[in-house]
Amino acid sequence: MVSSLYEPINVYKPLAADIGIVDGPLEYLIVGGVKLPLPFTTRMTVVRLSNGELFLHSPIKFDERLAKELRDFGTVRHLISPNQFHYAHIGEWQKAFPEATAWASPRVRQRARARRLEVHFARDLDLAPPQEWRRDIDQTLFPGGYFKEFIFFHLPSKTLILTDTIINIEPDKISEPWRTAVRLTGMAAPRGGIFFGMRIPLILQQRAAQAARIKIHSWRPQRIVLSHGRCFETDADRTIERIFGRSSL
Ligand SMILES: [Fe+2]
Repeated sequence: MVSSLYEPINVYKPLAADIGIVDGPLEYLIVGGVKLPLPFTTRMTVVRLSNGELFLHSPIKFDERLAKELRDFGTVRHLISPNQFHYAHIGEWQKAFPEATAWASPRVRQRARARRLEVHFARDLDLAPPQEWRRDIDQTLFPGGYFKEFIFFHLPSKTLILTDTIINIEPDKISEPWRTAVRLTGMAAPRGGIFFGMRIPLILQQRAAQAARIKIHSWRPQRIVLSHGRCFETDADRTIERIFGRSSL
């Protein structure tokens, strides 16, 4: 199984003022304690708040050189688990930055406990942004049953920060049978879409889904950052309309 990385990895890549991404190493899906032969790329989004504190969305595997780079950029303060599947490295970052606060997504504590991962979540994410970052970042909960996640919007750069809500995998970066699988499930770049696992829950949670869509449209994002696959750095409005429908719906 071959999969290529978004190199260079473990390096901060600016997208706009005070926001950038760090591509990480490959990881493997573990189901019921079994590592599946499905490597996927990882990505963390870093926002520098107006008070100089850093918001680390979905922290990737800890790396000392990267930690030093971030220390020069701001004060690592918030470690975000946007959904119950993205949390595995928060404990490593907490060890290096004991002053940082880890923010929990629904069910993530149980999941971490079941996997015996040491991580202490001091706070819970909520439908509205906390006072700690609401000047710079808005948020809401995107429904999707088991896969629901908190989504964020960096106000100054108009960047929508998603985790698994949209998957946009570049087929030439993966091998078969996954290449065919991402195409068949509508998750292949450049026309990636809603993560297939969320689609039925979204039908069953129409009101919550509609509220989230209205929120996304109201933000008018200019850029969409994803945790897996290629981000949408231009024409975000067209992508949002294609995936979430028109704003008047
Ligand atoms: Fe993911």
